[in-house]
Amino acid sequence: MSKLLILGAGGHGRVVADAALSTGNWDEIAFLDNNNELNDVLGKAVVGGFESYMDHREDYSAAIVAIGNNVTRMIWLDRLERAGYEIPSIIHPSSTISRFSQIERGSVIMAGVVVNASARVGKGCILNTSSSIDHDCILENGVHISPGVNVCGTVHVKSCSWLGVGSKVLNNVTIGFNVIVAAGTIVIKDIPDNVMVAGMPAKIKKNLEMKSDVGKDFFIPASYEWERNEVRTRSV
Ligand SMILES: CC(C)(COP(=O)(O)OP(=O)(O)OC[C@H]1O[C@@H](n2cnc3c(N)ncnc32)[C@H](O)[C@@H]1OP(=O)(O)O)[C@@H](O)C(=O)NCCC(=O)NCCS
Repeated sequence: MSKLLILGAGGHGRVVADAALSTGNWDEIAFLDNNNELNDVLGKAVVGGFESYMDHREDYSAAIVAIGNNVTRMIWLDRLERAGYEIPSIIHPSSTISRFSQIERGSVIMAGVVVNASARVGKGCILNTSSSIDHDCILENGVHISPGVNVCGTVHVKSCSWLGVGSKVLNNVTIGFNVIVAAGTIVIKDIPDNVMVAGMPAKIKKNLEMKSDVGKDFFIPASYEWERNEVRTRSV
């Protein structure tokens, strides 16, 4: 029996649960959430707070993190992996994922997403509703692509960056580590690490700080990992 534990029962958690149920791959789904007032969500039980994750290890073989904040999501993903949970990727059946693309564990792909050939999506990414990732793109670990974003071919998005709703990125651009691309922005050239950009074309509006104790290296994908993993298709 395949049982999935979802960390986070908020709006994003519900969308992740819905996508997971749509795959037909899970016999049972439950949530962990720190809101004590939540007992069930979408008819699925909330079985404890986040910190109780070790208590459910025997009952749930697999777990996924449904937290929007990129840094927090990656830290919890790491804890779950260390605890021995299987970390699946959740791929909504209405998405179109090239058989020649690669989707790493812990990533969630929502309804209507398109991922084209030779794109590589790292660990713990969110590809939100109706976004598109074109050929040869690299999304490193912990990237969030919001609804309706279009990323053209051969774009590299470094770890923990967030592309806001409806933004667009032209071909061959690199977006740095821990970047926020504001809603509706058009990115036409490379963006450095740790900034917020907005506008058309994108201009730097703010410098950002990585608020985390674990340090930048924690989020960077090891290059060997990309090569070692087999190509995965939508049936995962
Ligand atoms: C970028 C964002 C996070 C705001 O960040 P913030 O640090 O609070 O930014 P501020 O509101 O202080 O704005 C800073 C500057 O950026 C500008 N700005 C912010 N968002 C902008 C946008 N989408 N387009 C153009 N300019 C924008 C502000 O006007 C301000 O400009 P100024 O300094 O010239 O006056 C927010 O505007 C945004 O775009 N969120 C994305 C929401 C989203 O995608 N949700 C989907 C979740 S699934």
